[in-house]
Amino acid sequence: MFIHSPILGGKFTKVFGWNGILWMISYIISIEKNPPPAPPPGGGYILIGLANRQPPTDNSFLRYLCPMNGLQEKIEAYKKEIEAYSIQNAKDLEAYRIQFLGTKGIVKSLMAEMKDVPVAEKKAMGQLLNEFKNFAEEKYASAKELTEHQEVEGTGIDYSLPGQPMLTGSRHPISLMRQRIIQIFQRLGFSVADGPEIEDDWHNFTALNLPEDHPARDMQDTFYVQQQPAWLLRTHTSNVQIREMQKGKLPIRMIMPGRVYRNETISARSHCFFHQVEGLYIDEQVSFADLKQTLYFFVRELFGQHVKVRFRPSYFPFTEPSAEMDVSCMLCDSKGCSVCKKTGWLEILGCGMVHPNVLENCGIDSNKYTGFAFGMGIERPTMLKYGIKDIRLFSENDLRFLKQFTGAY
Ligand code: DAH
Repeated sequence: MFIHSPILGGKFTKVFGWNGILWMISYIISIEKNPPPAPPPGGGYILIGLANRQPPTDNSFLRYLCPMNGLQEKIEAYKKEIEAYSIQNAKDLEAYRIQFLGTKGIVKSLMAEMKDVPVAEKKAMGQLLNEFKNFAEEKYASAKELTEHQEVEGTGIDYSLPGQPMLTGSRHPISLMRQRIIQIFQRLGFSVADGPEIEDDWHNFTALNLPEDHPARDMQDTFYVQQQPAWLLRTHTSNVQIREMQKGKLPIRMIMPGRVYRNETISARSHCFFHQVEGLYIDEQVSFADLKQTLYFFVRELFGQHVKVRFRPSYFPFTEPSAEMDVSCMLCDSKGCSVCKKTGWLEILGCGMVHPNVLENCGIDSNKYTGFAFGMGIERPTMLKYGIKDIRLFSENDLRFLKQFTGAY
């Protein structure tokens, strides 16, 4: 809104809002009683600082009055206003932008006044105006940066702070080894099967040719479920062999990784739970030679091509013949160390040809089909590969231990 008054130097003067107009009327009445000093020739008065303010109730408005000596004085006055303008938050910043830099803002309106400047002064005035524009913009830019780095109003949260890095976990060494073992056997056409950890006596013992009074049951101290004495925590992964054979789908070429439980005293070398991988291959005409070739391939892939292998005759009720397989100690190059107990050999797994009784227990014709099986612990090769000296570390959830496997494979 512009108002014309002869008292204001006979010029159109900008006032803001209806409050400004009311104020202007009261101003005109009071100024006629007590006229201010005459403006310099060609000058007038500019009313500043009225935007969003209440009309003054006394003559204090006079401090908003300053002599106007053309565009230059206006610029000076606005510069002072900008200097004093306090920008505390995003809301203030936006109000400032609209008032000074907006399309209907002060910078634009002063630019529009350039057309009334005499040609001789145009260049100097243009420069002055440009400087003013930069001044107004610089204040905006620096205030913007400040408010952006402040907390977002009232939330107490500073969104500009750098984020907390996401903690990425790493694979457990047992999982790493299990995965390696699976990958090697998958290349030989073995698929992966799983079975229950709470098992019944038949699948864990009886079907595996271990009748109730068989002394071989003493080999494994078993956890029984108190409320349900027919149930136990499986002592090996061999129970999954039985479950897979019972399904009646032949041939079978599977590995079965999983957790097993035994009532053993916990020490650096043994624990009451650990992990095994079971292997089973049943088809027509499977021989001990197939067993040996499969396991040779496996250990060379796992430990390296230079590793030597030996089979020792052994006894398991569910295989006949049975064997235990050792690999040459990779820690001392078979020279004899504390890990291989000076023998140069490390026992890795038990294996053998599946006992005909076991096949028959699962409804498989033992005259037509033969097969081999093997079972090995996962903890042992993991400890060898990563140089872990205490089996208890695997289950203590100590981050200092687990973090060491970040990026391991
Ligand atoms: N189940 C045996 C154990 O836990 C390991 C084993 C030996 C599994 C020979 C087999 C095998 O499948 O044929 O000690």
